[in-house]
Amino acid sequence: MQEQRAHWGSSVAFILAATGSAIGLGNLWKFPFITWDNQGGAFVLVYLACIAGVGLPIMMAEILIGRRSQRSVVGALKEAVGPGWGIVGAWGVLCGFILLSYYTVIAGWSLFYFVQTLGWSLSAVPPGLQTGDLFGQQVSNGRLQLGLSLVFSVATVAVVYLGIHRGIERLTRTVLPILFGILLLLLFSALRMEGSAEAVAFIFRPNFAELEPGGLLEALGHSFFTLSLGMGAMITYGSYVDRSQSIVKMSAVIVLLDTVIALIATVIMFSVIFSVAGMEDQVGASTVGMLFISLPELFYSEVPFGNWLGPLFYVLVALAALTSTISLLEVVASYLIDQHGVARHKSTLICGATVFVFTILAALSFGAVPNLSSFELFEGKQGWFANADHFVSNWMLPTGGLAITIGAGWFMSREATSSELLDGNEPGWFHYGVWRFFIRFIAPAAVGAVIVAVLFFGVDFS
Ligand code: TRP
Repeated sequence: MQEQRAHWGSSVAFILAATGSAIGLGNLWKFPFITWDNQGGAFVLVYLACIAGVGLPIMMAEILIGRRSQRSVVGALKEAVGPGWGIVGAWGVLCGFILLSYYTVIAGWSLFYFVQTLGWSLSAVPPGLQTGDLFGQQVSNGRLQLGLSLVFSVATVAVVYLGIHRGIERLTRTVLPILFGILLLLLFSALRMEGSAEAVAFIFRPNFAELEPGGLLEALGHSFFTLSLGMGAMITYGSYVDRSQSIVKMSAVIVLLDTVIALIATVIMFSVIFSVAGMEDQVGASTVGMLFISLPELFYSEVPFGNWLGPLFYVLVALAALTSTISLLEVVASYLIDQHGVARHKSTLICGATVFVFTILAALSFGAVPNLSSFELFEGKQGWFANADHFVSNWMLPTGGLAITIGAGWFMSREATSSELLDGNEPGWFHYGVWRFFIRFIAPAAVGAVIVAVLFFGVDFS
């Protein structure tokens, strides 16, 4: 007899778990950088439009597919959409596998910077410290990279091993409030810095003359990444939702929280950057620069109470990353559990160990092993990490997302989707017809445009 499927304890528990999946390095690391790169204002507006017009409807679609089938991604798509759709699910599992393998490496960096900044706070910042050099040394130190990734992988495995209630739900319920707290604390101190007005203007004052077509598509691609869409993570988490909870309301809250947090993180970082003369020219040289090179330096030279806020900030990054990596591992592990009848403990260990083999490759691809760091599969992408990220962000998430929208909009019946969304608890502002129009026409057209852009115009989202 099959064990009864676990369900989240409440809708708040699901919201926290799903929000934890959504909020991660995408919010704290990628979004500020691409906003900077695209000159703020107008880009942010376009991004918000993508979140509302594409992200939100697909979020609802993924959760409804999961809840309806009560299965993880492969079984869910087979059951809710059609027998041939298992292949889309398998694509999602593969995507989760690859994404987890390299995401863990960057997550490991946050542990390094936590320990470093804590050390500086407790004793003193070494005189003449060059954070750029420090960064270069840590990423190319193979043993260190392996150690950091291993610690992070073990933490991820431990949580998923404990299961939905004792693992994921308990962790996210504890961590998310802490995360919000740290972020608000950082926001208040950032807003007191002299550069904050300029930062807020940069982010919120649109100047459409500055927006390039590539930025439009980048905004769309990022809206998938940041909401954990396009690979079945939300299908999997949705499969533990029971019928008494409103999918529409919960989706709206998750999407809103993810967006607000990305904006807050950006205000914090830009306030720091705009408060320091000459800093503006230095950032932007690389994606990693802002989070791991400019910020550590600024905490100790410019930010009031920086020696407290510095380590706290890296705890925040680590926790945000952990609540994302657990949902990635859950996608992979629950595939073995649901489709092959493997017990959770065994499945988690097998999947965690297999993913780690690939994490090793990613961890050593920042200079530690020259061959792993320099090969080019995609033009201009050097090394294992860069190529894997490129493949996932530019190919796997958009194609998976397109398939899911088409499945929900064109292959599932109106009765099937409406009975899930109009579950008696839906909010008054929700109109099923509007959702259906967006999922059938707007979202596929927009995602299709991304894919065409990548294919024919070489636009890069990673
Ligand atoms: N949303 C995560 C972030 O912003 C990254 C991510 C993309 C993800 N897809 C996912 C996390 C699937 C978990 C599951 O950092």
